[in-house]
Amino acid sequence: MLKNVFVPQEEIEKELSLCHQLRSVIGGGKKAYISTFGCQQNEADSERLMGLCLLMGYGVAEKIEDADLVIFNTCAIREHAELKALSKAGYIRKLKEKNRSLITAVCGCMAEQSHRREKILASYPYIDFIFGTDRVHRLPSMVAAALSGKKQQIYVSNLPHSEFGVIAEGLPVRRESGFRGWVSIMYGCNNFCSYCVVPYVRGRERSRRSEDVLAEVKALVDAGYKDITLLGQNVNSYKGDYSFPELLRRAASFEGEYWIRFMTSHPKDASSELVEAMAENPRIAPHFHLPMQSGDNRVLSLMNRRYTREQYMEKAAYIKDRVKDIALSSDIICGFPTETEAEFDRTVDAVDKVGFDMLFTFVYSPRPGTPAAEMEQIDHKVKTDRFARLSALENRRAEELNQRFVGQTLRVLSDGRSEDGIFRGRTGHNKIISFTLPEGADQGKAAAGSFIDVKVRSAAAYTLEGDALI
Ligand code: 5AD
Ligand code: SF4
Repeated sequence: MLKNVFVPQEEIEKELSLCHQLRSVIGGGKKAYISTFGCQQNEADSERLMGLCLLMGYGVAEKIEDADLVIFNTCAIREHAELKALSKAGYIRKLKEKNRSLITAVCGCMAEQSHRREKILASYPYIDFIFGTDRVHRLPSMVAAALSGKKQQIYVSNLPHSEFGVIAEGLPVRRESGFRGWVSIMYGCNNFCSYCVVPYVRGRERSRRSEDVLAEVKALVDAGYKDITLLGQNVNSYKGDYSFPELLRRAASFEGEYWIRFMTSHPKDASSELVEAMAENPRIAPHFHLPMQSGDNRVLSLMNRRYTREQYMEKAAYIKDRVKDIALSSDIICGFPTETEAEFDRTVDAVDKVGFDMLFTFVYSPRPGTPAAEMEQIDHKVKTDRFARLSALENRRAEELNQRFVGQTLRVLSDGRSEDGIFRGRTGHNKIISFTLPEGADQGKAAAGSFIDVKVRSAAAYTLEGDALI
């Protein structure tokens, strides 16, 4: 059981006041760069890290080459993600040769694994410090130590993963977007799906207080944010003062036009109350990400998912029935240990039957320390063949499903005009749509961050095209 998950406010205050002291040491004109890998949780953490950097007096570096402080916020979900971060971290040596006073750090999920930490320190002696996922609020202390000449420092929790994890409230945030914002509502995961490293690197599930979450959402709405995503590894097991559906309802009850989304739901916990909240409230965006992982019951059981194919399909059908035109998306792992061809066929069949607007398909990647890594592994070629088959099916299904929008007028949150001269935006279903404006129309009405109506003209698998009605 987690005790005292909240970092004491005095500790946060100490870090914040250290930021002010560091301003004179760091000096004017210095810049920070954060390279973020992986999921939205990491993006949200990076926005807090950058908030602290700004408070320490750093500016935001547009390019890594211009930075005096570089942080790699890494992901450990699959080996591919780890290798990407490691290869990019190798580039720091060149930067450090050019700028001797450059400070470099690695954080995020890779930093929580001791075998990775050892490899990083051995292969990259120029890394000044490594810190774990529950040390974000300590960045000022860590930078201060690096400035005073300490090298190769490691800052991680020494608690076993059964107890580890904190919540740090009151940190400054520097958001990447002026109209799309993340709000973490909880951290960690207790599900221990047998393939997944998250419960080990992000610690035990813990929820922020509902009042803190709602205050953050309200501040975003007041600041003009239009698309706000509530984040958690499994939002349905949120345990604040309110249940998750109630929190969602309240987050969607402030004055103004905006969308609320959430990521991610575990199918075993997604309740009908949640679906009804979505059906009732137009501010809750009609998109549901519900990872299926496999469509075969033996594989689901080996994965420790705790639902059956039938239960999943029933839930998906219920969601589609209750929320008009809802976009359903999912994650599938191809080539889980011991998965047979017939079992994979059942996954393909389930994907075909449910009909996903978007499918994130992954080749299974053994993660050291997880139970699945110890099971009998499947040939890489078999895994990639399965991946290719599923992707082909999904391309066809997504295109078919998207036709339902042709002729409809959808509310679109504009991303403005991109460099290629085309206006793009996203619908509530989180679909990318490109659109034209009528001759002579005021382009300001379609500026990034504005809502406009767009009549859909055509639909491909992953994009829509339409004409703005302004
Ligand atoms: N190998 C492949 N995919 C994985 N995922 C999680 N762990 C692994 C792994 N070891 C996928 C799951 C999850 C998504 C975020 O990443 O599908 O839902
Ligand atoms: Fe990983 Fe399963 Fe937790 Fe998702 S629910 S983070 S897949 S352990």
